[in-house]
Amino acid sequence: MPQEKPVRACLCYPHTFAELKALAERHGWQKVEEITRAVGCGSGCGLCRPYLEKMLATGETAFAILPAELKE
Ligand code: FES
Repeated sequence: MPQEKPVRACLCYPHTFAELKALAERHGWQKVEEITRAVGCGSGCGLCRPYLEKMLATGETAFAILPAELKE
């Protein structure tokens, strides 16, 4: 059975969203750019950026695949 929320990590840099959430809380990061500057996530293919934004807004660390219209 496929996972309901299979998106759990940046694919270009070795960090799960759970790890990134913990780092964001520890360092007070509130913007994707702060995550990108510190660990690189978001600066590769960029596919994780909308998920990182949602993680920062909601605290979620696992996501359903976003519809194309919500991706940049
Ligand atoms: S998935 Fe995060 S930069 Fe490619």
